[in-house]
Amino acid sequence: MRIGIIGAGKIGTGIIDAIKGKGFDFIASSKTAKAYKGVFISDDNKMTAEDSDIILICVKPDKAKEVLDEIKDEAKRKIIMTFAAGLPIKFYTDIADVKVVRVMTTLALRNNKGAGAYVFSSGFSESEKNEVRRILEALGEYIELSGESILPVVTAISGSGIAYLTKIFDIFIKEGISRGLTKEQSEKLIIGTIKGSLSMMEETQPEQIVKQIAVPGGTTEQGLLALEDGKLEEVLKDAFDRTIKRAEEIGQ
Ligand SMILES: NC(=O)c1ccc[n+]([C@@H]2O[C@H](COP(=O)([O-])OP(=O)(O)OC[C@H]3O[C@@H](n4cnc5c(N)ncnc54)[C@H](OP(=O)(O)O)[C@@H]3O)[C@@H](O)[C@H]2O)c1
Repeated sequence: MRIGIIGAGKIGTGIIDAIKGKGFDFIASSKTAKAYKGVFISDDNKMTAEDSDIILICVKPDKAKEVLDEIKDEAKRKIIMTFAAGLPIKFYTDIADVKVVRVMTTLALRNNKGAGAYVFSSGFSESEKNEVRRILEALGEYIELSGESILPVVTAISGSGIAYLTKIFDIFIKEGISRGLTKEQSEKLIIGTIKGSLSMMEETQPEQIVKQIAVPGGTTEQGLLALEDGKLEEVLKDAFDRTIKRAEEIGQ
């Protein structure tokens, strides 16, 4: 199956990075023709849709209608795999006779990492679903959902969540620097700490890990008390609420 990528911005080129050299047959187009790391990107969306079986929509949500109107004949009865945030499956099926898989992703896909979720419209055969899953496996850790209504929660955890966690890591790095470490030392410590935390989470529940580290009377206990005083949980819940609200607004 040939993949046709439409929109060569951060997500489109990230997908090229993720699938290039991994046995996928793909072509790409964008608003302006260009080359990306040796891959030719045309400015002909119709040709991309015509010459591919699975069409990946990687343009901003406000450009999706324009693109779909342009390719609806060439895309007829093909698979649209859309990465555009917020737009429901119905948005695509109302415009064109297509099968749609809606994906919530993150920019980390360019390193074959990160997490997200996807929802299939009706009409997919099992072998078509497996082709889609094969592409998603190259992009990171994706979970299949049976309906779209919970996708805003996925946005809060993974799509936007990756920025919230990175913001916290950045605060750690800057604190290290302001207290005497070099930038390199501080970054090395936080990256190692994140990897350590992940390795432990693969075998132990997070709550258990915190308990193991925060022994009574120790240093961690003090820091955890400060996080409680600062209402970290409430702040993060508020971040979830606001992300979900905005994701739902965009989807309307
Ligand atoms: N960035 C993220 O972290 C992220 C995360 C999750 C989901 N998403 C979703 O992914 C989609 C793409 O986001 P992005 O960050 O990659 O945006 P982006 O960097 O702005 O890229 C969008 C690309 O679309 C191209 N484009 C615009 N109009 C077009 C048209 N009519 N035909 C073909 N190509 C066209 C532009 O091409 P030119 O450069 O040639 O003008 C631009 O490079 C969005 O819908 C967004 O909601 C993004």
